[in-house]
Amino acid sequence: MIEKIQTLISKQNIDEKIAEIASMIEKDYEHKDIHFVCVLKGGVVFTVDLARQINKNVYLHFMDVSSYGEDTKSSGDIKILMDLDESIKDKHVIIVEDIIDSGMTLNMLKKRLLGRNPASLKICALLNKECNKTDNIDIDYLGFNIPDEFVVGYGLDYAQKYRNLNYIGIISFEEE
Ligand code: IMP
Ligand code: MG
Repeated sequence: MIEKIQTLISKQNIDEKIAEIASMIEKDYEHKDIHFVCVLKGGVVFTVDLARQINKNVYLHFMDVSSYGEDTKSSGDIKILMDLDESIKDKHVIIVEDIIDSGMTLNMLKKRLLGRNPASLKICALLNKECNKTDNIDIDYLGFNIPDEFVVGYGLDYAQKYRNLNYIGIISFEEE
């Protein structure tokens, strides 16, 4: 199979959107310290690019989670593969995620982190597949709504590949 990638969102469009989101966050957190919780691995490129556009101190935290697949609905929980190494109690936290599909993972992560008593907790996502929502989720800062296609690049992978593309593309497969 040959993997083909067709550009969906260009580097320039991503850069412009990140600048917009950064200035909104700067305004909203004018007198507050900002604590980003980056959801690994996909969120890492977006997190660092966004943080670099914010003209005040941004603390970076990293976390890796996975959902339990079909069981997640019933168990209502996620598996924490790598936890934060500092407390977020009384901090102003923004979860930074690459993409929201069903919304399940992020909803459960939000619940978990709220249990740690941050001063506030918001969600920032670069991409959202609107049509796939099984869970209601409030996205405080959103880059782009996208169609229900599998996308790669800018942190997002297919089989751990393509994370380093500087644009977002739709991947398709063709016979050799
Ligand atoms: P959700 O729990 O259904 O919202 O799943 C979101 C997670 O699925 C994201 O954090 C990604 O890791 C993964 N994911 C969903 N859609 C895509 C895609 O198009 N490309 C790459 N990863 C995706
Ligand atoms: Mg992810």
